[in-house]
Amino acid sequence: MQNADDDRRAYFVLTIGEHLDLARAEQESLVSLVSSGTKIEWKGQIGFFDSLIYPISFLSDRSVMAKESGEVFYSCSGPLRNLFESLEGDILRTIVDKRETFCVRTLSLAGVDTRTRLQTESHVGNLIVQATKAKVNLENPDVKVLVVFLSDSTIVCKSTVSRLRSQFRYKVRETLPFFHPSMMNTRLARVLCNLAGVMPQDTVFDPFCGAGGILSEALAIGANGIGMDLNWRLLRGAKTNLSERRSSQFSLIQGDARQLPLTGYDHIVTDPPYGRASSTRGSAANALVRDFLETSTRLGRKRGTLCICGSTEMGIPELIENLGLVPLRRLRLRVHKGLTREIVTLDI
Ligand SMILES: C[S@@+](CC[C@H](N)C(=O)[O-])C[C@H]1O[C@@H](n2cnc3c(N)ncnc32)[C@H](O)[C@@H]1O
Repeated sequence: MQNADDDRRAYFVLTIGEHLDLARAEQESLVSLVSSGTKIEWKGQIGFFDSLIYPISFLSDRSVMAKESGEVFYSCSGPLRNLFESLEGDILRTIVDKRETFCVRTLSLAGVDTRTRLQTESHVGNLIVQATKAKVNLENPDVKVLVVFLSDSTIVCKSTVSRLRSQFRYKVRETLPFFHPSMMNTRLARVLCNLAGVMPQDTVFDPFCGAGGILSEALAIGANGIGMDLNWRLLRGAKTNLSERRSSQFSLIQGDARQLPLTGYDHIVTDPPYGRASSTRGSAANALVRDFLETSTRLGRKRGTLCICGSTEMGIPELIENLGLVPLRRLRLRVHKGLTREIVTLDI
């Protein structure tokens, strides 16, 4: 749908059904990278926004927590027959070209029953065939038309299934040659990079890099990485892992995150030790994080974002506020009964 007064078009993004706050935050961060100042209006797990720039390829390549996204072509309120009567050939031909194959799927966020959904898929499919002569392909269509039932309207979209999700391997063990239990899993590592707004060519610093779970995802995005850790054996593992990402550069330093030796980075994306698997080498986790935050925010020059993931017990937002700083986002992610992760982002 195009607004009359400008060239902005309407888009949607459908997140996976779990960890809603985190999934929404990831989309908001990614959308702001292509279309700054754009607000997403959420209806449960689906969000709508306008953009001057086509954002769908970027979202599809970058988002871990979006299932699909695409352009909204038509919106209609009232009973379903209003939709069928008003979906004109001109609209349908902008969604599907006659040389393309297509399928129609429905998504109900308004309790619409299965029978109505199947009837809608068939009816809209017939309208498209009549208007375009395009062929139906339910298995591997060129175009997926998505009809979304909302409580106040029905919308018709052209949807792209997330490329990243379909290719992504979630387990570090399956992805990288060196594994250690303290490593950040690939999915969360990628989400943290997305929350920090990492873009290709940026430099990402992980001062608690371990064997490089987060940096490996930063490099996969096309950023360069700097890693620091006390543990020499893990740094050797990081070298093995990061060498897999041949198109980006990285440096590794053995050192203490409480005494940061450098400032030439765009983002800090990190997870300090907080579980049993990673060692604090005798320092209490909270004191370590407090000292690290004190040093990193003092050095910071308001040029990027810090995204830090800890456990709720570490009280990272409070540590940040005690330094007189205001977190941009605070997100919680329940892992199991004994561990809820807390993710905080901050301008540095
Ligand atoms: C949770 S792990 C990091 C995982 C890693 N960020 C990743 O992406 O896979 C925490 C790491 O902090 C390191 N560490 C502990 N105290 C440290 C300190 N004072 N300075 C630097 N690294 C430290 C540990 O050796 C461990 O590798």
